[in-house]
Amino acid sequence: MNETQKSRILIGDDLSADIAAACGGGNVFILFDRRVHGLFGGRFCAEEGRMFLMEPGEDAKSPAVAGEIVAAMLQGGCNRKTTLIAVGGGVAGDLGGFVASVFMRGIDWINVPTTLLSQVDSSVGGKTAVNVGGVKNSMGRFHLPKTVYISAHFLPALPPREWVCGLGEIVKTAYLDAAVYALYKTSFSDLCARDCRAVSAFVRACVAFKEAVTARDFLETTGKRKILNAGHTLGHALEAADGHARSHGEYVLIGLYAEALLFRDDVSSEVVSELKTVVKALVKDGCPSASAGQLGALCAMDKKNEGRVSFMVIAAPGDIRELCLSPAETADRLRALAAADGFFDPIGA
Ligand SMILES: NC(=O)c1ccc[n+]([C@@H]2O[C@H](COP(=O)([O-])OP(=O)(O)OC[C@H]3O[C@@H](n4cnc5c(N)ncnc54)[C@H](O)[C@@H]3O)[C@@H](O)[C@H]2O)c1
Repeated sequence: MNETQKSRILIGDDLSADIAAACGGGNVFILFDRRVHGLFGGRFCAEEGRMFLMEPGEDAKSPAVAGEIVAAMLQGGCNRKTTLIAVGGGVAGDLGGFVASVFMRGIDWINVPTTLLSQVDSSVGGKTAVNVGGVKNSMGRFHLPKTVYISAHFLPALPPREWVCGLGEIVKTAYLDAAVYALYKTSFSDLCARDCRAVSAFVRACVAFKEAVTARDFLETTGKRKILNAGHTLGHALEAADGHARSHGEYVLIGLYAEALLFRDDVSSEVVSELKTVVKALVKDGCPSASAGQLGALCAMDKKNEGRVSFMVIAAPGDIRELCLSPAETADRLRALAAADGFFDPIGA
């Protein structure tokens, strides 16, 4: 796979007919999220023995489940010419893409993302992975799908938690990209209300942005993909400390705001105030409480950090800065915030 290859990305209100044609298109194997299959599977038929239903949830992103899929593919007579089709959220995409990258040393695959998060983010850029030893995405490859079908007809069935999950990544993208920020300023309430036109506009703009960024740094070697980690250093730490009780997007939202507070002198007041408003509107149960010491240690464990804790901080819309602290400085600043902010309120210990 070289850096100039691209996925064919099709975006539409209802691409069921195209997806059904791909599913019925000969030598294919379909990996379905079981919940999505229950809701939409009737329209997409697989040949006998050519389908695997994965249990919904992050636990499916494991080497064991990947091995089960490979075994099912062998049992079903798949070969190097088989195309794997993954239908579901980011978990199905990451898992299916990973299996496609290793089955007989790599076969073609098609991604059919069905959550807001997977449509605006995870289906673009070619990252695939499973989790090993409790470490997210620790075994994975870059393997672009041949085609991505982004169809809005899946989205009305999404539960509110999964909707907010996608909104979190969209808010992040708004601060990285001028076109998404313009939509964010005019139509974010329509998006929150799931207005079809707003959803379509945000999905198209986010996909165009992510495609452009990842094409410039396909293998994550030039540092250009790093801006996509905005809000994620503290977001991932909070997610781990809180036992993944909320959706990933909520932690990203809190992470964006808390990282702005950590580097208050570098961040415009407008950004701090906008982030506080959106976090309070979307994160309904308040901020999870976690100790500053624990969060500092978790930030330091992030695989992207190599000894220093690196934060991609939104200084202003479109102005993203990599700012680093030692783990001890991170914990000290978090402790100092404990008394200073009414919403993000880590426990001082
Ligand atoms: N590859 C990347 O670049 C990248 C980027 C961001 C996130 N990710 C990964 O994405 C995963 C999270 O993805 P996700 O948030 O889509 O979670 P998910 O795949 O677990 O889906 C969330 C839930 O929504 C259900 N669901 C899916 N589509 C539905 C629909 N249309 N209607 C009703 N329910 C539906 C699923 O059954 C599941 O219970 C994580 O593993 C994360 O690491 C990957």
